[in-house]
Amino acid sequence: MSKKLFIETLGCAMNSRDSEHMIAELKEKEGYETTDDFKEADLILINTCSVREKPVQKLFSELGVFYKKKKEGAKIGVCGCTASHLGDEIIKRAPYVSFVLGARNVSKITEVLHKERAVEIDINYDESEFAFKDFRTSPYKGFINISIGCDKTCTFCIVPKTRGEEISIPDALIIQEAQKIVNAGAKEIFLLGQNVNNYGRRFSGEHEKVNFTELLRRLSKIEKLERIRFTSPHPFHMDDEFIEEFASNPKICKSMHMPLQSGSSKVLKDMKRGYTKEWFLNRVAKLRQECPEATISTDIIVAFPGESDEDFAQSVDVVKQVKFDQIFSFKYSPRPETEAEHFTNIVDEEVASDRLSYLQALHNEILDEKNAQQLGKTFKVYFEALNQGGFVAGRSDNNLLIKVKGSDELLGQFREVKITSIGRTILTGEILA
Ligand code: 5AD
Ligand code: SF4
Repeated sequence: MSKKLFIETLGCAMNSRDSEHMIAELKEKEGYETTDDFKEADLILINTCSVREKPVQKLFSELGVFYKKKKEGAKIGVCGCTASHLGDEIIKRAPYVSFVLGARNVSKITEVLHKERAVEIDINYDESEFAFKDFRTSPYKGFINISIGCDKTCTFCIVPKTRGEEISIPDALIIQEAQKIVNAGAKEIFLLGQNVNNYGRRFSGEHEKVNFTELLRRLSKIEKLERIRFTSPHPFHMDDEFIEEFASNPKICKSMHMPLQSGSSKVLKDMKRGYTKEWFLNRVAKLRQECPEATISTDIIVAFPGESDEDFAQSVDVVKQVKFDQIFSFKYSPRPETEAEHFTNIVDEEVASDRLSYLQALHNEILDEKNAQQLGKTFKVYFEALNQGGFVAGRSDNNLLIKVKGSDELLGQFREVKITSIGRTILTGEILA
């Protein structure tokens, strides 16, 4: 009987791809099969996130549950960003953990498995050219890492300490991955990096100068590849050439993530984001001018140290001006080994909660208004998932989530869909003949 692997993935899309890599290595080299039930697993992996404090607390409570209820003899491994930053402290706090594997050490999964209490967390380890085995969760779209790490120094962010310096993956390897995905029948690729439009900044070895715009051009030449998505770009690196390629290349999906973080130029400076409110709005204007149909999503942090009422009003002002299609909003969470951890002008917890609620209510109002305008419109939807109640769901080119009545025959197919009713997170439509 094959050995069973249970893997829980927290955090971002990069973590999801790291989990796919670990599953692939464990399947091919160690004969594991995945299971959804941790109680029958021989190996339990938690792929952790450390970007805010909450998921870190969650890790230790979850570990306790796994330990109590796991099968006798099953191993527990902690992987990902919290593994990178806490290292052997995890084993000190939870001595039943068999190994700790950092976010930058994924390729060593089959090694640590056979060592007692291994801690592999070197954040300078270079996996940019490692030939991972193949495993993909979705047959309809494939994630591809295009760079690892991040060279920015945003004062709130722990990522550079957990994923190390930025290294781009050679474009030939990325194109090869994309080709494999398409050959397997998927029509969409999703490019991943902490800072995708800084692509080409540094390669592991000698490499021709290729920037993100050029990478997009090269990928879009792949026949039968229909959609290219990516996350996350950085507003600082959104030059005209990039926006123009985004707008004019028909294979690039028209949804842009533009992480604002704050609308106050003073706070942006304290965050060391490298742009001002004016630059951000200027880039949005350029994008809207070149590509009016594009949807825009963002990340906003409220109550960063020193954020005054006036600073917060600037974030509100940007939200009102841009009318984002999606906002991921967070209360600032102090993180170890970051510059902002030492900032003393902390915003009161109650004020922080009020600001977050205000922002979310404002966004919902904007969303209701925008969604109402979608009624009766037609979108080309790529169907990817079965939903409850006999529905099939997929996304429009500009990333709207849309469901129609239907069955699995629609999965992996494109259809023209007319919107017939509106919800806040999902639109409902009917397929046009
Ligand atoms: N506190 C709150 N939110 C944070 N993010 C990153 N670090 C922190 C932090 N210390 C948010 C940012 C980032 C998203 C992935 O998480 O908005 O874009
Ligand atoms: Fe963190 Fe800034 Fe890098 Fe994004 S760009 S991962 S926020 S340091």
